[in-house]
Amino acid sequence: MTLETFDPRSSAHIDAATRIWNAACGADLAFGERFMRYNTDPGYWNGQGRHQAGRLAMIDGQPAGFVLASVMKAPYANAPYSGHIDALAVAPPYQRRGIGRALVAWAETWLRGQGCAGVTVGASARTFVPGPPLELGSAAFFERLGYSRNGICCDMARDLAGYQTPPTALKASGVTVRPAQPEDKAALLGFLKREFPGGWYWECVQLLEAGSRISDYVILLSERGVDAALLVTFEDSYRPMDRFYPHRLPRPWGQLGSVGVSADRRGSGYGAALMDGALRYLQARGVRGCVIDWLVLVDFYGKFGFEVFRQYEMAGKELQRGIE
Ligand SMILES: CC(C)(COP(=O)(O)OP(=O)(O)OC[C@H]1O[C@@H](n2cnc3c(N)ncnc32)[C@H](O)[C@@H]1OP(=O)(O)O)[C@@H](O)C(=O)NCCC(=O)NCCS
Repeated sequence: MTLETFDPRSSAHIDAATRIWNAACGADLAFGERFMRYNTDPGYWNGQGRHQAGRLAMIDGQPAGFVLASVMKAPYANAPYSGHIDALAVAPPYQRRGIGRALVAWAETWLRGQGCAGVTVGASARTFVPGPPLELGSAAFFERLGYSRNGICCDMARDLAGYQTPPTALKASGVTVRPAQPEDKAALLGFLKREFPGGWYWECVQLLEAGSRISDYVILLSERGVDAALLVTFEDSYRPMDRFYPHRLPRPWGQLGSVGVSADRRGSGYGAALMDGALRYLQARGVRGCVIDWLVLVDFYGKFGFEVFRQYEMAGKELQRGIE
């Protein structure tokens, strides 16, 4: 076996990694090449605070497995940095031959060289999965390699046909919920920078710079301006829908991101009002199968008729300092 540098500009590499993932993870967790290109886009991972690298495992000249690893540094994150194994897969005929172990070892060495103090499986800035999907059983593989299991998170889903506003969404008063418009850009970014200066702020900056529709953000306006926001995805959004693995749900598909409410306005019913407004927006656009991804507050989303759709086991490891 040899390890070859993964080149995100190579169609052959994009194709090979996509095929390996789809063969290893099955139809329910399959994605298309556009998603693989999006998640490995060199325009995003430009080495200026956003770093990603990968390897293809080659056997007899054939790609048999791949790994991608990444780390966000300043200005997006502060030291000590925390790295990610973004995605790892070995094609079924080549499994249980030590290839997965070799790919993880390469990723850990690369991350250590980037100054990372720890590594998380999945959950990277351009996310493939929040952690190993429970249905793949691969958390046991990571455990074998010294990773600890750090709990479960899940995606929830429902068919929006027949969605009706639940009582919980009627508590807030004096607020308006609507898709953001171009003139809301400064207010939206100001809100995110104030309340969620980490990932969500930078995600919004990057999405808007890349030409994503601002109306994919749904905002809640109180008397003082934007006080809550969430991000939705349609099948034609800039962020590929593949990320949410909605295959078992009726089309058209939609996604709704986690609700973010100003810290001093939590408990006022803003989150539920925003959820309801966003769900009605998706419903009015014809969305049926709707996913809310990567969450732990199952009870909150359950009030809107959502049920657990997929579970992920979070896994991570501290990286010992090696010779760099
Ligand atoms: C997880 C995966 C990458 C493992 O690759 P692999 O090449 O088969 O793994 P290795 O042969 O290197 O296995 C290393 C060790 O883990 C064990 N192992 C491998 N898969 C395992 C599993 N599913 N459960 C328990 N142990 C496992 C091996 O037996 C081996 O044990 P050893 O210490 O006795 O030698 C592969 O099964 C896969 O592609 N799964 C689907 C994708 C996935 O789940 N990715 C993770 C989320 S990003």
